[in-house]
Amino acid sequence: MKRYFSFLIVSGILVLFPYFQAASEDNVQVTADYKVTGEKLNTGEKIYNQSCKACHGTGVAGAPKIGDSSAWQERIPKGMTTLIENSVQGFKGDQGYMPPKGGNSKLTEEEVAAAAAYMVFHSK
Ligand code: HEC
Repeated sequence: MKRYFSFLIVSGILVLFPYFQAASEDNVQVTADYKVTGEKLNTGEKIYNQSCKACHGTGVAGAPKIGDSSAWQERIPKGMTTLIENSVQGFKGDQGYMPPKGGNSKLTEEEVAAAAAYMVFHSK
């Protein structure tokens, strides 16, 4: 009986541990040197759908399309810090014009960063 209980406790911890960890730690590897929490990636998905998808969902006006790894492969090596900075401040490249915060000035830098991480995560 005692062994049975310790078995239950140990397996309970093993089962629940990833959930505790998922909520509190940066455990989603977006790029080689950039990690975020799963929670942040979920926020990023919401922001992306509201403020980025219009261009990045279809690749309109030269926007690198989400999921199109060839459109992102030359951008990702710039590093997330630069990509986030360009998303927040706006960016004029060879392909077109990325408006600051995707044109939604109400977004915080954190929210734009989360949306950028979401896009890159799904575009490798
Ligand atoms: C009005 C269209 C439009 C919207 C909305 C938009 N983007 Fe962009 N974005 C672009 C275009 C066009 C480019 C490519 C510019 C180029 O390289 O010539 C781009 C490029 C980028 C890049 C790559 C920058 C780089 O340095 O290579 C990131 C990251 C990005 N956008 C993030 C976002 C995020 C995050 C949002 C939502 C908050 C967003 N974009 C909304 C048009 C848009």
